[in-house]
Amino acid sequence: MKTIFSGIQPSGSVTLGNYIGALKQFVELQDEYNCYFCIVDQHAITVPQDRLALRKNIRSLAALYIAVGIDPKKATLFIQSEVPAHAQAGWMMQCLAYIGELERMTQFKDKSKGKDAVSAGLLTYPPLMAADILLYQSDLVPVGDDQKQHLEITRDLAERFNKKYNDIFTIPEIRIPKVGARIMSLAEPTKKMSKSDPNTKGFITLLDEPKQIEKKIKSAVTDSEGIVKYDKENKPGISNLLSIYSNLNNESVEDIEARYAGKGYGDFKADVADVIIHTLAPIQEKYHQLMNSTLLDDILDEGAAKANAQANKMLKKMENAMGLGRKRK
Ligand code: TYM
Repeated sequence: MKTIFSGIQPSGSVTLGNYIGALKQFVELQDEYNCYFCIVDQHAITVPQDRLALRKNIRSLAALYIAVGIDPKKATLFIQSEVPAHAQAGWMMQCLAYIGELERMTQFKDKSKGKDAVSAGLLTYPPLMAADILLYQSDLVPVGDDQKQHLEITRDLAERFNKKYNDIFTIPEIRIPKVGARIMSLAEPTKKMSKSDPNTKGFITLLDEPKQIEKKIKSAVTDSEGIVKYDKENKPGISNLLSIYSNLNNESVEDIEARYAGKGYGDFKADVADVIIHTLAPIQEKYHQLMNSTLLDDILDEGAAKANAQANKMLKKMENAMGLGRKRK
């Protein structure tokens, strides 16, 4: 069975973008692959986090993984900081990475722009992400479109390691959803929907109430043409709503366009909101049951034990290949 690894940062509320770009793919793939899904809390601290908020977000993200349909009997769900091999392997990957290639990462450029206090961790984030993936000999990494560059550098680092030290790493492939690989902000549809956006009108979280969802979709920025048609260049707002609708309703964009021919944006937006509300209702119900249960802790304990066993094996191989530590006489 082939292996999958993917992770989500507990750095705010999980958005509809995270659901469509990542979580929905995870659920679809868990039957066919040996899956490791991670709450990457060590990535979250590359930018300042409030301690109590981070704790809460970690638990909340764990509950959401299960609530969207990840089955802990099939997939291994765990918290990155509970598997120390990630940070250890991350250090080795940092020593293999060049400063120049890290400075060229668009995420680093975006997140550090205009800031005077940029953490070194923000720069060395991709080697840690490479370690996450490579420790599990992952064949496939399901992510949204914004992670493409990080996957490329992961592949580069794996190849570099294999060539320089020993051929131990599987080179992972990326998997991006056909529709919805980049869900855009509702307020500024030329910008990615992001959980760290200060404008809360721009994103829908998986825990938003129906009324909030209706309001946000109603006020989503569109255009004045009044035609429901996919045209990313000229109609980014409507195209984004079409992608959301198409992905959540498992229906082609063409079929949706045909159904709304001659109708205005009002009807269309009301139905988009409805599809989102119906998708999220069962997730929210399960989430609230899980949040306060010890079941969630048991799942995470078991996940950490399984992940530690696998990751430590690979870490040993990496250390041997690099010549770290010693061999007993
Ligand atoms: P993060 O936490 O920013 O996002 C988690 C996942 O959600 C996807 N995503 C989106 N997809 C579609 N439209 C959007 N607007 C949108 N916003 C986010 C992301 O592509 C991602 O799949 N670096 C990663 C976390 C990470 C990781 C890993 C991922 C750390 N180690 C190893 C895969 C494998 C990140 O910041 O994702």
